Amino acid sequence: MSDAAHAVHQVPSRLLDASKCPKPHIDSFETYKKLYEESIKDPQKFWGEKAKELLHWHKPFETVLYGGLEHGDVAWFREGELNASYNCVDRHAYVNPDKVAIIHEADEPGNSRSITYGELLHQVSRLANTLKSLGLKKGDTVAIYMPMVPEAAVAFLACARLGLIHSVVFAGFSSEALRSRIIDASSKLVITADEGRRGGKTIHTKKIVDVALEGCSTVEHVLVFRRTGSEVPFSAPRDLWWHEELEKHRPYCPPEIVNSEDPLFLLYTSGSTGKPKGVVHTTAGYLLGAAITFKYVFDYQENDIYGCMADIGWITGHTYIIYGPLLNGGTTVLFESTPVYPSPSRYWQVVAQHKITQLYTAPTAIRLLRRYGDDYVKGHDLSSLRVIGSVGEPINPEAWEWYYEVVGRKECSVVDTYWQTETGSIVLTPLPGATAMKPGSATFPFFGIETAVLDAESGKELEGNDVEGVLVIKKPWPSMARTVYANHHRYMDTYLNVYKGYYFTGDGVGRDHDGYYWIRGRVDDVIGVSGHRLSTAEIESALILHSSVAEAAVIGVHDDLTGQSVHAFCTLKPNQGETDVNELVLQVRKTIGSFAAPKKIYLVNDLPKTRSGKIMRRVLRKIVSGESDQLGDVSTLADPSIVPVLIDSVQKS
Ligand code: WTA
Repeated sequence: MSDAAHAVHQVPSRLLDASKCPKPHIDSFETYKKLYEESIKDPQKFWGEKAKELLHWHKPFETVLYGGLEHGDVAWFREGELNASYNCVDRHAYVNPDKVAIIHEADEPGNSRSITYGELLHQVSRLANTLKSLGLKKGDTVAIYMPMVPEAAVAFLACARLGLIHSVVFAGFSSEALRSRIIDASSKLVITADEGRRGGKTIHTKKIVDVALEGCSTVEHVLVFRRTGSEVPFSAPRDLWWHEELEKHRPYCPPEIVNSEDPLFLLYTSGSTGKPKGVVHTTAGYLLGAAITFKYVFDYQENDIYGCMADIGWITGHTYIIYGPLLNGGTTVLFESTPVYPSPSRYWQVVAQHKITQLYTAPTAIRLLRRYGDDYVKGHDLSSLRVIGSVGEPINPEAWEWYYEVVGRKECSVVDTYWQTETGSIVLTPLPGATAMKPGSATFPFFGIETAVLDAESGKELEGNDVEGVLVIKKPWPSMARTVYANHHRYMDTYLNVYKGYYFTGDGVGRDHDGYYWIRGRVDDVIGVSGHRLSTAEIESALILHSSVAEAAVIGVHDDLTGQSVHAFCTLKPNQGETDVNELVLQVRKTIGSFAAPKKIYLVNDLPKTRSGKIMRRVLRKIVSGESDQLGDVSTLADPSIVPVLIDSVQKS
């Protein structure tokens, strides 16, 4: 492991200095430990109290938890009744109507606009009344295929207001991917826009929807928000303009009060095989998970301006752009652009302009910006930041250090948050005022989350520290997914039947001598070479230590002699000139050991990534093993044209 990975960074003293920062909710590790232990000893008491404190109930619950992991019949706050949009909007709009709920940072700099809680209630109500007039009823599903505009949030909340189940499809998905999701969920309505804008480019959103809907009979209407105003195909009576419809309806709509366990949304996520799963989240438990983690993990305080750079089409956008911040009455920034448009300073301009206090982004963006160099960060006033977060994949210690030093000026806590679409909210994380950080470690479990490390083979729990295995959760928690849409079997088989009685995350994990958790990556990314277990993430971290390497992706390739061998794909920083791959091999030998040395290193211009920035190692594995005719579904690749280039590089090497 690198030196950076051994470093321990205490909570920055600035965060604990009352003259500089608001007092953190949890301001010492002892307080975290005490609360954590209480939450695990008596989860019913902990979650019952928090549910009353953080949510508004139209009818109180009596039972905190029913069911369990064994049978997959988990139900939280069973008799309770509430409404998600009331909790996110009304209760704040009544006391604080002029507080800004959403700041829209549009693709072109200088075009931001704000929506107050009062205005949000009007918009959500008008849309909810529109949806009602179209005949939609509680339990119907609505597909949302929208660019990053505040109206997307309005669409989420209007569905929730009526007990409709939203199924958001990331607006970068192709027509085919959209169609299969619409069909699987039997969505009756699609809410979309004429076009989207991202990084100065136009996305032909409505045209993509039109193609998706060819031969798709469940959809009765398409409601189109006007984002750019360009001429787009429009076929009445199926298609309706958002602005024309909303204008017809009154700006108040009574919320439909639903049961705690009524579904709030579906979100499709890809498994390692097969077609995407429609992960189902229910109302009260999900909202509680979103509200409590947002409050404590980002240490949200009354006047904060919080900015999450994810897309609303992914779980991070659901929980930490929309539900978490709004449940807490916060101000959330909705960012339409990219980290490099119009220049790699964009994030820092946005932080300075809006005085963002918490920034949440992904390691892939951090690595990209690190690669451009510090000059793009310097000169921007980032002093408003207190907490900077990372999510989505393990963050290399080197990228972590850069984030901490250059962006955070060693004055911000870095929260490396580990969670999944299925967990609904963060499960492993430091707390900004309490946890000493180790770069690359998601540190400790959040309140009420009882984690364990199992031996992958035997399924036995590995007690104590200094252990390696797979990460599981031992008890139900409120925001866990309840099922896979119309496929409970698949839910049981993927998550609850793998290790009976546990929720299986699918991730490898280590718990070090101090009890810190280190996510090693998906279990299917673990490589076994000559009996040694290696993590792709660890080898990648080693490669990135080399001064020329920008990004690395490591895969295991079948090897008759050693079981598997390590192959690595690396992109180099600009202007590196000649780089000898032997130096990179040496770097891995030096950092981890000879057994981890890649057998082959390919220097490439780009890596295959999903639109959310995850490296698709599966594609690399197929290419290297000469199965590039069996790549499977590559529709989630951000840039499919890189596939032939990669095949070429591998064949030439
Ligand atoms: C990975 C994203 C290491 C992990 C919220 C998980 C992480 C998968 C981290 C879920 C992290 C997410 N450190 N790995 N901080 N956060 N992952 O469903 O492999 O898009 O299982 O949810 O991302 O991805 P998903």
